[in-house]
Amino acid sequence: MVKLYHKFKKMTKNIIETENLTKYFFCSSFLRNSNEKISVAVENVNIEINEGEIFGILGLNGAGKTTFLKILSTLILPTKGNAYINGYNIIKESEKVKFSIGFHSGEERGLYWRLTGRENLYFFATFYNIGLKELKNRIEKLSEVLQLNGLDKNVYLYSSGMKQKLSIIRTLLHNPDVLLLDEPTKSLDFETAYEIRKFLKELSKNDGKTILLVTHNLKEAEELCDRVTIMEKGKFSKIVNMKEIEKEKRKEVLEKVFLENANIKMENSKYEILKQNQKSK
Ligand SMILES: Nc1ncnc2c1ncn2[C@@H]1O[C@H](COP(=O)(O)OP(=O)(O)O)[C@@H](O)[C@H]1O
Ligand SMILES: [Mg+2]
Repeated sequence: MVKLYHKFKKMTKNIIETENLTKYFFCSSFLRNSNEKISVAVENVNIEINEGEIFGILGLNGAGKTTFLKILSTLILPTKGNAYINGYNIIKESEKVKFSIGFHSGEERGLYWRLTGRENLYFFATFYNIGLKELKNRIEKLSEVLQLNGLDKNVYLYSSGMKQKLSIIRTLLHNPDVLLLDEPTKSLDFETAYEIRKFLKELSKNDGKTILLVTHNLKEAEELCDRVTIMEKGKFSKIVNMKEIEKEKRKEVLEKVFLENANIKMENSKYEILKQNQKSK
């Protein structure tokens, strides 16, 4: 199936496809002379994502979400299995994959704090052979749409929201078809999170971008995503097709699926309260 897709990629609409994608982390110890498996981060994930789709991944900390995105962005190699982005093999054609994707890692370390926002963008653009005029236009347009003021300030003076926005602009500089976004609205105030969500929705609707969105926010998943999966212990446990559910019931259904699948054992947490609410309905 994957081979066929690879061959006829223009005839199919799957833009991301994974085949038994697996990542184990090992602890190598020269004393024990062995490679001990210490964690299963991603295990046998098989998924096909359509062009223009927003696909959400929910899951508890440590479920494997970030690792999954890192493999697709070619930052780390899978232990087993493979994946195709835009028809390109992430292992054998990683250079082509890099031009097809924009990865927002969600880690503030991804920016140079002593440089200004604009200097950061100019620096990252050098990886993609973007002409100066085009680059200036894109920075202008993206900072306007995302309402990022202060491009000429040093990044250490930026608020979290400004850093998130700058990082999203960086992700889009080379106009990739696929966006891999790791918690893009993490710890943002309501208004900034709202602006980013609106922007992502438009990117998918108007520009046909495909977005793989990792989020802890059920409301965000419900608002933005066409399909949502719950990731648990490296696996996609269930996939919810939002379009098959009435609009008013989507949040409730997502909460229910999340609670059932996440195997949450925390006492007195908001999840317990939610669980009780679900039972009493
Ligand atoms: N570089 C690493 N070395 C060893 N274990 C790792 C590494 N990165 C992630 N892990 C482990 O893989 C699992 C999944 O981590 P991660 O993908 O960061 O989860 P999530 O993003 O869902 O919180 C966790 O058990 C984590 O401890
Ligand atoms: Mg993570």
